[in-house]
Amino acid sequence: MSKVQYILVTGASSGIGSFISKCLSQNYNVIIHGRNTDKINQVISECNNPDKQLAFVTDLQQFEEIEAVLGKFIIEKDIEVIGFVHCAGFMNMLPAKMMSVAAIQKTFSTNLFSAAMIVKVLLQRKVNAGALKNVVFISSNISNFGAKAFSLYSASKAGIDGLMRSLAVELAPDVRVNSVLPGAIHTPMTSAIFQDEEKAKSMLSTYPLGEGFPEDISNMVEFLLSDKSKWITGQQFTVDGGRTIDISG
Ligand SMILES: NC(=O)c1ccc[n+]([C@@H]2O[C@H](COP(=O)([O-])OP(=O)(O)OC[C@H]3O[C@@H](n4cnc5c(N)ncnc54)[C@H](OP(=O)(O)O)[C@@H]3O)[C@@H](O)[C@H]2O)c1
Repeated sequence: MSKVQYILVTGASSGIGSFISKCLSQNYNVIIHGRNTDKINQVISECNNPDKQLAFVTDLQQFEEIEAVLGKFIIEKDIEVIGFVHCAGFMNMLPAKMMSVAAIQKTFSTNLFSAAMIVKVLLQRKVNAGALKNVVFISSNISNFGAKAFSLYSASKAGIDGLMRSLAVELAPDVRVNSVLPGAIHTPMTSAIFQDEEKAKSMLSTYPLGEGFPEDISNMVEFLLSDKSKWITGQQFTVDGGRTIDISG
């Protein structure tokens, strides 16, 4: 009998990831990942067919444990993971003088190293039997640019885009791998910026298409997971309302 197929969404307990998961649940079974069971269960209750969605709880900072924990989860549930959306992310504005080993470890484990280990697990024949077809990394529009106090975060996002490009080459034609690079979206991650009315207004004035929403990111993810993008791999898709293309002024 064939196994039930799933899309794994990391960072699905909040913000963009929770929105993506709810949208995907219209057409797929989703593994909702996060660190907090109550938050995950809340997202599952808001999904289509809540009974079909699975909760996966693990802290990605412990990325050296992912291979064992995720492998066990997939084998025990007796499922196939056909798609992986890495949305989990940690962002802390940190001036270069304040960079620390702990901050480097936290940023890179969550944003980059864990994604590499998850892809490895999903490629293992004994765990996922060649089921993986599609990977989408949620990067950031800062990946190709620079900003004060964003060195660690932007390096981790540039790293995931580098990982994306080489995986796309190595895994073709079986697996497509792409990145989505959002501009500022109002979520718990950016709440401090949006809470400051002046700052928010000045920031949004740099967005030619105005404010963006989680659905703008989710629409691109759904496209990349679908056959409508079947000839696309190894690409960065910036979804930022024109923020990074505007060099006027
Ligand atoms: N919001 C923006 O403007 C924006 C712009 C560009 C890119 N992005 C990217 O979009 C993605 C989603 O961001 P968001 O704004 O939706 O942020 P968010 O609301 O803060 O959600 C972050 C998610 O990542 C999970 N996470 C964080 N650290 C983790 C860890 N150590 N282990 C496991 N899970 C962890 C969180 O889980 P818990 O619920 O357990 O905390 C949560 O589900 C991130 O990769 C971010 O870098 C966001």
